[in-house]
Amino acid sequence: MMRRPSTEAIHGHEYRDRERGVFKVPIYQTAVYEYPDSCTGKPRLSDRGLDLKYSREENHTIRALERLLAKLEKGVDCLVFGSGMAAIAAAYFSKLSAGSRILLPLECYGTTQELAQNLSKFGIECILARSDTGEFLEKLEGGIALALVETITNPMVRVVDVREVAKRCRELDVPLIVDNTFSTPILYNPLEDNAWITLHSLTKYISGHNDVVGGAIIVGDEEDAKSLWNWRRKLGSIMSPFDAFLTIRGVATLEARFEKQSKNALEIAEFLEDHPKIERVYYPGLSSSPYKSTADSLFKRRLYGGVLSFKVRGGQREALEVLRGTELIKSSPSLGGVESLLTYPVWTAAKNMSREQMEMLEISENLLRLSAGLEDAEDLKEDLDKALSKI
Ligand SMILES: Cc1ncc(COP(=O)(O)O)c(C=O)c1O
Repeated sequence: MMRRPSTEAIHGHEYRDRERGVFKVPIYQTAVYEYPDSCTGKPRLSDRGLDLKYSREENHTIRALERLLAKLEKGVDCLVFGSGMAAIAAAYFSKLSAGSRILLPLECYGTTQELAQNLSKFGIECILARSDTGEFLEKLEGGIALALVETITNPMVRVVDVREVAKRCRELDVPLIVDNTFSTPILYNPLEDNAWITLHSLTKYISGHNDVVGGAIIVGDEEDAKSLWNWRRKLGSIMSPFDAFLTIRGVATLEARFEKQSKNALEIAEFLEDHPKIERVYYPGLSSSPYKSTADSLFKRRLYGGVLSFKVRGGQREALEVLRGTELIKSSPSLGGVESLLTYPVWTAAKNMSREQMEMLEISENLLRLSAGLEDAEDLKEDLDKALSKI
């Protein structure tokens, strides 16, 4: 039976212990499993059909989360990791070898880029291009072994026409990783557009409470699942059962949280757009945004996520005064959790960028990024207004 995302998010783990009457997923806090018959040397099989002997490979709590995420992202299987970066590393390992070229967005998550650039010591070349422009499609033609795009970029929240990039990747036979962290399966399912894999930092919206670090890869092909499973086993980068338990708990409320965070973000974006101390607001849900039409054609719902950026009138001094001036809103680098967080992109996302790259992406010294949490929008606006009134 085809179930809708909010139903799937609660029931999709499929765990049910009828004998004990338990339908919540327990934490299987075990490193090892007993062999059913020590004479044969043959372990039990997991529900994936693989040896169930050691939790670096398979674990029931982790498996329940994987079933859940595979359903939400409309894949055939899912693998969860100890962080988003561990998931990215496994994807790189599975597709890259000496002489390979990887194409990444200029604006992608800094550590995703840094890891690819560090692979130059193994003879791998990292090429950068703006993923919201034709330049990315052009660079795909240059013998690329692996490409990655983020559905919504950071910090400028540009919506990328992933459908078009995925189509070109298929034509050229280039495997495409879609990092769907900022948009979540509530808005978009990249595998439906033939991405090679969908990737998440579970640390953000999916676990949703700023208390878990995790990552996931969802695949549309069993063979890819096997290959990535083997890389995860060798890299030793599986998630812990407790973090999987917390993430399952988070997923149950994903849609409700994402809706409220998106509504809060839109309300704050509209408030800031009219504020005399604000130069410009960047949010794809604003009718003034050049990315709204791409968002409306790509996304399943008229929601645009909880992240927005804005430029304060003035320069670095004024932006930092706002950063230091909020009380409710914390200055902290993550996003997607229940608490609203504010960051200064010059120190975070753009830390390793050249001046020229920052200019190309319109990242300036008066820019701030806000991840709207689940607080009351009025309280958030008042907090920002108070901080802005001090400059
Ligand atoms: C879009 C995106 N992808 C991947 C990552 C890496 O995930 P993690 O921090 O869980 O390792 C991040 C982290 O901020 C991110 O923003």
